[in-house]
Parts: sequence; C-alpha cells; structure tokens
Amino acid sequence: MTPVPEIRAALLAWYDRQARTLPWRMPPGAGTRPDPYRVWLSEVMLQQTTVPHATPYFLEFTARWPTVSDLAAVPDAELMAAWAGLGYYARARNLLACARVVAAGHGGVFPDTEAGLRALPGVGPYTAAAVAAIAFDRPANVVDGNVERVMARWFAVETPLPAAKPELTALAAGFVTDDRPGDWAQALMDLGATICRPKSPACEACPVSFGCAAGAGGDAATYPCKVRKADRPRRRGVVWVLRDADGRVALVRRPDRGLLGSMLGLPTSDWSEA
Ligand code: ADE
Repeated sequence: MTPVPEIRAALLAWYDRQARTLPWRMPPGAGTRPDPYRVWLSEVMLQQTTVPHATPYFLEFTARWPTVSDLAAVPDAELMAAWAGLGYYARARNLLACARVVAAGHGGVFPDTEAGLRALPGVGPYTAAAVAAIAFDRPANVVDGNVERVMARWFAVETPLPAAKPELTALAAGFVTDDRPGDWAQALMDLGATICRPKSPACEACPVSFGCAAGAGGDAATYPCKVRKADRPRRRGVVWVLRDADGRVALVRRPDRGLLGSMLGLPTSDWSEA
C-alpha cells in the first residue's frame, strides 16, 4: 500500500526546502498567492516548451504586458511576432482570444474556479486545473506527463501509456486534498523535472523513495510502460527555396491544422509515401 499521508508530508517538506525559484511562482510559505495572469501565461507557455526556454519569453511578455488587459489590447500580428520561437501559433491565437474574454467579459479578473477557467477559450482541463490549484489554491488534480510518470513509478503501473492515462489520473487524484493544493501541484512538477526524470531518475536523492514501488524494484526508469510504436510511415515531398535578387526568401503561412500548423515555412508539395 502506498502511504498517501506520508508521501504528501515528505514531498511538501522537500518542496519547502528545495522549490525552484521561478518568475511566475510564489515561494512556499510566502503567504500570498501568485497573480493568476502570470500563472495562466506560464502554463500556456510551458505546455509548449521547457522552463529554461519559456522563461525569457515569460519575462518579456510580462514586462511588455503586465496585466491580462494589456495583453488583450495587443494587435494579433504583434503578439504572433513576440510568440515566434515558442511553437504553435494556434496557441498564441488562443492566448489572445482568452485574454480578450477575460479583459472584456470578466473585467480583467480571471475566474477562480476550475469550471470557470475551463469555460475560457483555449483553456483545457490541464490548464484549468493548474491555474485553479496554483493561483487560487483549489484542490484540483493537475496531471501532465510528469505527474503521469511519477504515479506510474510510485504504483509500478504495468498498463502501458496511453491506455494508462485514466488510471494514472485517478491515482494522482488520491493525493489531492484541501491542504496546500497549489504547492502540492508544484511540488510534483519539481519532483518530475529534477528527480523523477524520464531517462535517468535520481532515486538516491528522492524524498519519497520510501513510497515508490518501481524504485523499490530498482527499475524506475522502465516506467511508465509504453507500447512500442508502429514504424512511422516515411513520406517524401519537395521543398522549394525561392530567392529574389536581393536574397530574400519566400515563405508561406502553413494551414492551421497539421504539421507545423499556422507557422511560416518554405513552400512545399504534398507529402506522400510514393
Ligand atoms: N511545468 C508546467 N507548469 C509548471 C510550473 N507552474 N512550474 C514549473 N514547471 C512547470
């Protein structure tokens, strides 16, 4: 049996000592909640990329647009330019749509419940749970790939991903209580990022190794189990590089859906297995 209260206590104590200092975060024990706008913005950026890559973007965005109403007033093209390098533009479009709804429809104040957040454009179950927990200390079950990995290891879940997702979500829910839900979510994130890493977990440094079934078996890195992916089809196409006399290169805006959706790219033919 995995000792839920003991794991919670040990991980929160570890977080109190070791929490990463991040620009959207309030340190544990600060006694104030972080700004929901900053939490939401960081979560949208972090779905796309890593903490080191997202951090300079986060700092630039919050310096230029300190509130959600400032962000809502940015022309689309200016936001897209600032987002360049952060990946899918569809997310930037949703970011702007959400900022505009919060600014115009909610007086610039983010809803403070998971359901209220979920109703905003582009806010999915993960983001709603993360903002509800971190910004409003709601007991929301925040489950991303890191949390799935941690649960798969603590409980040595043999079901492979993605079929295991509902099981891993239910296991994670068993740890969420009214006591410090925001810190709990962030403690799990920090554990997944720094100790319970995908390839080389640092089990010897883990504050909750006493509760980890996979670690006890010495094979934490083999969890979560995965089904071997079928070989991916290989597709071929033609990419054209068109330069004018000044050396400028022609780019096209790609379709919203599909590979590299809505990004600028070189013109290509269709891709086929032929
Ligand atoms: N990854 C996703 N959300 C995060 C957060 N709020 N802090 C650290 N890492 C994260």
